[in-house]
Amino acid sequence: MTLRPLHLIFCAGLLVTAGCGPLFDIRKAMYDQPKYEPLEVTDFFGDRRSARPLIDGTVAQGHIQLDDHLYLGLEEEDGDFRQAQTYPFPITADDLNRGEEMYNIHCSVCHGKSGHGNGMVVRRGYKEAPSYHRDVLRNAPPGYFIGVINNGFGQMASYSHQIPVEDRWRIVAYIQTLQRSQFANVEDLEAIQVFIEEPITEHSSPEHANEH
Ligand code: HEC
Repeated sequence: MTLRPLHLIFCAGLLVTAGCGPLFDIRKAMYDQPKYEPLEVTDFFGDRRSARPLIDGTVAQGHIQLDDHLYLGLEEEDGDFRQAQTYPFPITADDLNRGEEMYNIHCSVCHGKSGHGNGMVVRRGYKEAPSYHRDVLRNAPPGYFIGVINNGFGQMASYSHQIPVEDRWRIVAYIQTLQRSQFANVEDLEAIQVFIEEPITEHSSPEHANEH
């Protein structure tokens, strides 16, 4: 018998299926092992649910948030909760710098770098973001801003998933700094003057005094 191309193809086909057969069986056995499909019915539990409800009070790892001041921006007073008037940790110059950086990344695109509400996204047609320099927001406590960042406000989405909680407070501190910067009074100027002059007179030698 002469070997024809058709025979060769037939033999090659046999080899391939023989080679794959056992392998395929192993995979299938793993696929078919006893298990529940998501939400499959079972007779094992009384409520017939194979997906068991979480035990009361279960908290996902890394998600326990007992500090209402830090996480919710709420303070307890006389058994009642109100928007926090204070910060949960002391705000240093480093915190303000970090707040500025985070504000410029996450908020300035709509609220503008100085907080007047005219960021680039607004200039391109998004709903106008309210100015932080309106009385009602200038007088709002830090906890109010935390609430807005956590929950969103009207057309503004929540930013709690993008911004770690400490950074949210740093942003609020920076916003309050922006507010102050647009609403300084004469006493503030005097205080700033003292602040500027003191380090200069204390630390600079006479030949450097003119450089400032
Ligand atoms: C995509 C644009 C956008 C971004 C980004 C954005 N906001 Fe807003 N924000 C808005 C708009 C629009 C409103 C007004 C919403 C409305 O009235 O429907 C608003 C409202 C607010 C208000 C005012 C609530 C009030 O009482 O009037 C605060 C405070 C605020 N945003 C803070 C922030 C902070 C802090 C960030 C950054 C973490 C931020 N926003 C990021 C668009 C934005």
